[in-house]
Amino acid sequence: PMGSVRLIGLPVVSDPRGDLTFVEGGNHVPFQIRRVYYLYNVPVDSERGGHAHRELEQVIFALSGSFRITVDDGRERREFWLRDPRTGLYINRMIWREMDAFSQGAVCMVLASQPYDEADYIRDYASFAEQTKY
Ligand code: TYD
Repeated sequence: PMGSVRLIGLPVVSDPRGDLTFVEGGNHVPFQIRRVYYLYNVPVDSERGGHAHRELEQVIFALSGSFRITVDDGRERREFWLRDPRTGLYINRMIWREMDAFSQGAVCMVLASQPYDEADYIRDYASFAEQTKY
């Protein structure tokens, strides 16, 4: 169930100078990366997301701090707490997502398979639920 969402572990190269993590499109994430964006200065009571995407695939990371992502495929809801910069959450197309419980100073980085396109968003939950029926 919900194979459209999974955690992805990235490589880490650690030595006394610190940790280094890297990500290659088409290798560590299952798409070519066409956009990167990040959320920061997020108030701790902020709620983000609240939409699905028709085609877009994403991998979401907490580069610093932590936050919660709730995902919903129209049948089932699951929660993930992201808090490790080497572990991302892959979210396929047609998954509703909500993000909240941001820690102070949290930084959320998102790798995306397509450039920004408002027409790709489904921002109404009822409409999303209708489109996930079969
Ligand atoms: P939105 O995707 O709704 O944010 P979140 O899911 O994190 O709550 O985007 C918020 C605003 O930013 C919206 O007006 C569209 C704009 N935006 C861009 O212009 N380019 C982008 O790559 C993204 C992700 C958002």
